[in-house]
Amino acid sequence: MVVLSPATSDNWREITRVRSADDQQQWVAQTSYYLCLSAYDGLWRSYAVQADDGEVVGHVMWAVDPDDASHWIGGLVIDVQHQGKGLGRAAVDALLRLWEREPDLSGTPYREAALSVAPENEAALRVYRSVGFVESGEVEDDEIVLRRAR
Ligand SMILES: CC(C)(COP(=O)(O)OP(=O)(O)OC[C@H]1O[C@@H](n2cnc3c(N)ncnc32)[C@H](O)[C@@H]1OP(=O)(O)O)[C@@H](O)C(=O)NCCC(=O)NCCS
Repeated sequence: MVVLSPATSDNWREITRVRSADDQQQWVAQTSYYLCLSAYDGLWRSYAVQADDGEVVGHVMWAVDPDDASHWIGGLVIDVQHQGKGLGRAAVDALLRLWEREPDLSGTPYREAALSVAPENEAALRVYRSVGFVESGEVEDDEIVLRRAR
């Protein structure tokens, strides 16, 4: 349903055009910020979420926590024009499958996935719970942490 492609000189412009709805901007940054974070901060890796027809419909990034080696998902945004079609869930699913397929992709073996989400972000919580993430009891910057063992 979706393909994840690393952000490159070929697709970064399309990724910057991915926008959340106005009332969702409290939960995520602009995708251009995520691209810069991935390019310059040395931790995150940005990916384009491409629909079957090749159109870039979203962004997601991931990083390994140097403290506990968990694989974090961040910056998940599906363009407002394309939300509600199962693409958000498909993007998370595709990332989990990528780690399954290449558990040493980061150099740190994949054992656990993690993410944080605002507790009132119902759409995101639905997506994450539906693929097996559960609340860990941790709170980070006012967001609840969810984890999923491999
Ligand atoms: C969260 C987000 C990525 C989900 O993407 P999506 O493609 O719209 O989600 P899906 O179509 O895969 O839907 C997954 C589930 O969420 C539900 N859902 C979608 N939009 C919803 C909404 N506004 N309110 C409540 N549930 C919603 C769907 O009904 C579906 O659940 P179901 O299968 O049990 O019916 C998207 O809403 C988004 O980009 N939001 C803004 C950015 C954001 O909040 N990112 C997460 C940061 S942690």
